[in-house]
Amino acid sequence: MVKVIANATNKGGEGKTTVSILLSEYAALVMKKRVLAIDLDPQANFSKYYLNLEYDPATSGGKIPPIHPDYNVKEDPEWDGRSSIADIFYGKPVIPYPSCFENIEILPAHSQRLQDAEAVTKQDVVEKVHLQLKKFISLDEVKQNYDLIIIDTPPSKGPLTIAGIKACSHMVIPSQMEEDSIDGIYGMLQLWKQESYIRTLEDPITLVGILANRVRNASLHDSFFDQLSKIDATKDFIISHRIKERIIYGELRVKEDRPKSVFELTVGHPARAECTVACKEIMDRIFPNG
Ligand SMILES: Nc1ncnc2c1ncn2[C@@H]1O[C@H](COP(=O)(O)OP(=O)(O)OP(=O)(O)O)[C@@H](O)[C@H]1O
Ligand SMILES: [Mg+2]
Repeated sequence: MVKVIANATNKGGEGKTTVSILLSEYAALVMKKRVLAIDLDPQANFSKYYLNLEYDPATSGGKIPPIHPDYNVKEDPEWDGRSSIADIFYGKPVIPYPSCFENIEILPAHSQRLQDAEAVTKQDVVEKVHLQLKKFISLDEVKQNYDLIIIDTPPSKGPLTIAGIKACSHMVIPSQMEEDSIDGIYGMLQLWKQESYIRTLEDPITLVGILANRVRNASLHDSFFDQLSKIDATKDFIISHRIKERIIYGELRVKEDRPKSVFELTVGHPARAECTVACKEIMDRIFPNG
């Protein structure tokens, strides 16, 4: 069965996109899984990493998906040649884009359309936004084409994030080990609990982990990590391997010909080594049989 990971925390800059990239590439390059990357964030950073997005200054946020490589104007006169995950909120079909990695396809964000999709009334939000991604992921063609779907979410608890949480089977909370970040973890624990109450036994939502990111050699970071590893509310979820603060993570986000994966660095590279053990710990919880 296809597994679906949502990387979520309402706090900005904690590493949702970084961890979405790491998990996608670990699954595709190391585990050889077929991965669908979905970008629910109007900032479109996850999409930008894999695709050359275009910029449309007339739209809010400005980022739009490129023309799809399979687009043929004669065969598809009705289609404008672009596809984004936002289309599911407008009842339109979506066509994933290939990435430079054989096993990763991506459904990119469209800044304006994702923002517009969220702007619905309270009565409509459940049907029009919250449930739409789950509906899409339940389609047979999606379930059959992929082993793993990775969803990157915006830094909020808004309707798009809720849609991501409702669609997922597994949730990952990336977090810095700092005071305000820990508040974000508790906010997400609350969302996870609320969602797990309404799930059925056949369709659970598992919190796979709280992943410490941007960790420095500082007693502040160690003490938050030790606390989270001890207290009942979080001790079962904390991922024992941490991701350190390293400039290489920013450097890898700067695209040249194509993004280079951390898993393509030399085997002994400390970033590759720490990502391998952290991603393995997460994936072992999601795919206990490999
Ligand atoms: N371990 C790390 N070491 C160094 N830089 C990092 C690390 N993790 C993330 N960053 C950098 O921090 C910034 C924020 O990270 P990222 O985009 O992954 O966070 P986010 O939670 O997705 O942010 P947003 O809430 O805006 O979507 C990025 O510039 C990223 O390159
Ligand atoms: Mg992000």
